[in-house]
Amino acid sequence: MEPDIYAIVGEEGFARLTRAFYAQVPGDEILGPMYPAGGLADAEQRLRDFLIGRFGGPPRYIEQRGHPRLRMRHMPFPIDRRARDRWMQLMTKAVEEAALPQEVGAFLLRFFSGTATFMINRP
Ligand code: HEM
Repeated sequence: MEPDIYAIVGEEGFARLTRAFYAQVPGDEILGPMYPAGGLADAEQRLRDFLIGRFGGPPRYIEQRGHPRLRMRHMPFPIDRRARDRWMQLMTKAVEEAALPQEVGAFLLRFFSGTATFMINRP
């Protein structure tokens, strides 16, 4: 059973997390070029809404984007072990900066780690 993270951190907790993550993306030499230049506000909203729905909040992501099918949606991006590790590095920093309750941060990082490994689609 996972904790009801949305009930604990609310919209604002997920907003802080995704803001802190995407603030680092443009300056990153591996991830920066993968994301749409100038389109980061939309990307930030997609990740935020996805996480909110996934962790107990309103299902806005599914209403707007349909079934997540994340692995399929990530196929256009060259995600090797190095890109996966970099994504996790940025997300780990974002979890720290968002100052989420310790057990929530730890739970989310385990979820992110498994999901990020699942996204690897290049040797
Ligand atoms: C493993 C490293 C990863 C890389 C390099 C990566 C990269 C990207 C890129 C370039 C996009 C397109 C940005 C946009 O316009 O939305 C994207 C979208 C997205 N990513 Fe990732 N991602 C990674 C892992 C993850 C993980 C672990 C999750 C979930 C916890 C995730 C969730 C999403 C979501 C929800 C979208 C929006 C999909 C859509 O509706 O089109 N990503 N990702």
